[in-house]
Amino acid sequence: MDKITIAIDGFSSTGKSTVAKQLAKHLGYVYVDSGAMYRAVTYFAMEQGFIDKNHFDVSGLISKLNEVKISLKYNDELGYSEMFLNGDNVEKKIRTLEVSENVSLVAAVPEIRAQLVKHQKNMGAEKGVVMDGRDIGTVVFPNAELKLFMTASPETRAIRRYNELKQRGDDVTYEAVLKNIQDRDFIDSNRKDSPLVKASDAIEIDNSHMSKEQQFEIILNLVNKTLKSS
Ligand code: DC
Repeated sequence: MDKITIAIDGFSSTGKSTVAKQLAKHLGYVYVDSGAMYRAVTYFAMEQGFIDKNHFDVSGLISKLNEVKISLKYNDELGYSEMFLNGDNVEKKIRTLEVSENVSLVAAVPEIRAQLVKHQKNMGAEKGVVMDGRDIGTVVFPNAELKLFMTASPETRAIRRYNELKQRGDDVTYEAVLKNIQDRDFIDSNRKDSPLVKASDAIEIDNSHMSKEQQFEIILNLVNKTLKSS
């Protein structure tokens, strides 16, 4: 059976990566978390002092972009790929609330998007890929055979993310997580370059009231239909 490309877009913490990982495992496809790439560049920018709560030196960061080498390495034990930045495993470091608070500003910079989109297109050139993000169905793979657009209420998403961060031992409040989600929704949807919008041919899935299992079953049905017709 021919391999297809599956593009999953949507707001922050809508469970995109959970279902993308499940699908990749089930189908034997490659999973690419494009948000992790924007997070890795953001982590680099924070480490180099180009961005913090009060300032963002965009041109400084752009001038050092050639020093940012990111790669995904598959971890057999975890069953998914981890993000490496200039040879260091940064998988955990890119998931903090501090990185989340800066990432939407970094992801709004056209030069950074152009570089990462090129990388993402190369990774999906052979098909057999499930990629999640904000512009996968609109910009990265406009010809993807299956496009999903995930949504859930901000409060539902904040509870999920808050529980995740707490489980990792991070010292965060629900209010700070909710504010971060609302801020990122606004910046991601209103930036000039590739804003988060539902592709006209994407299927919307609101998972506010769905279990992970129910969601997987619904989406796997869509995948099987797409595989049959392609
Ligand atoms: O999926 P995530 O929450 O880890 O993504 C982090 C940020 O990266 C998100 O707020 C917006 C940005 N992003 C993007 O602009 N385009 C993508 N394809 C993926 C993520």
